[in-house]
Amino acid sequence: MTDLTDLRLSYQKGELRRDALNPDPSAQFALWLEQALATDMPEPYAVTLATADGAGRPSARTVLLRGHDERGLVVYSNYDSHKGRDLKLNPQAELLFYWPQLERQVRVSGRVNQLGEQESTAYFHKRPRESQLAAHASDPQSAPIASRAELEAKFAALETRFPQGQPVPKPEFWGGYLLTPAAWEFWQGRPSRMHDRFEYLVAAEGWRITRLMP
Ligand SMILES: Cc1cc2nc3c(=O)[nH]c(=O)nc-3n(C[C@H](O)[C@H](O)[C@H](O)COP(=O)(O)O)c2cc1C
Repeated sequence: MTDLTDLRLSYQKGELRRDALNPDPSAQFALWLEQALATDMPEPYAVTLATADGAGRPSARTVLLRGHDERGLVVYSNYDSHKGRDLKLNPQAELLFYWPQLERQVRVSGRVNQLGEQESTAYFHKRPRESQLAAHASDPQSAPIASRAELEAKFAALETRFPQGQPVPKPEFWGGYLLTPAAWEFWQGRPSRMHDRFEYLVAAEGWRITRLMP
């Protein structure tokens, strides 16, 4: 076995105090995301999306957070992909951000719904033309393909089908997902593994905040 047991960091970049937390987790997230974006970390909006299928079998992959507001967090993908099939059977998911430059982690879980067609279409047309063609080319995402050459031939055929200068239509199998948060957790690494963790749970009176054991 490769031995990694001597590799460790002591986390000492900050602390998280109960009295410094925003009562609204979405605002707390906005602040931490802004701070992550201000570092030199590549793509702090890259996030792990964990789903599970109807039998509870989990799977996780990286996606890009494309926006967040008072409704929740938005990512885009292919609705027929592995994750898309999972979400059809089981709409519960978790998004996990890890920001090593800040020694922070954020977890947010809840129900996922497809974003409205209009919003998905607007974002699709903002993407570079090559990404639009790739969305068409990589369907059904997550299915086997015989070779790289076959994939590139699909892309080339799409370049002819949708000539330069003409809009590429959004495929109906591609679009956004909105995760409506039911729980959040904000984690700040501290020395000696005595980390600060706060959970926000949705409750009748609003968000209930609890400190968790590290
Ligand atoms: C940095 C990074 C960003 C990615 N962004 C997306 C994305 O926004 N949407 C997406 O569908 N896949 C994205 N992917 C690819 C996914 O991780 C994954 O391979 C793909 O969506 C298929 O996942 P699935 O088979 O579990 O459905 C990204 C991968 C990386 C490493």
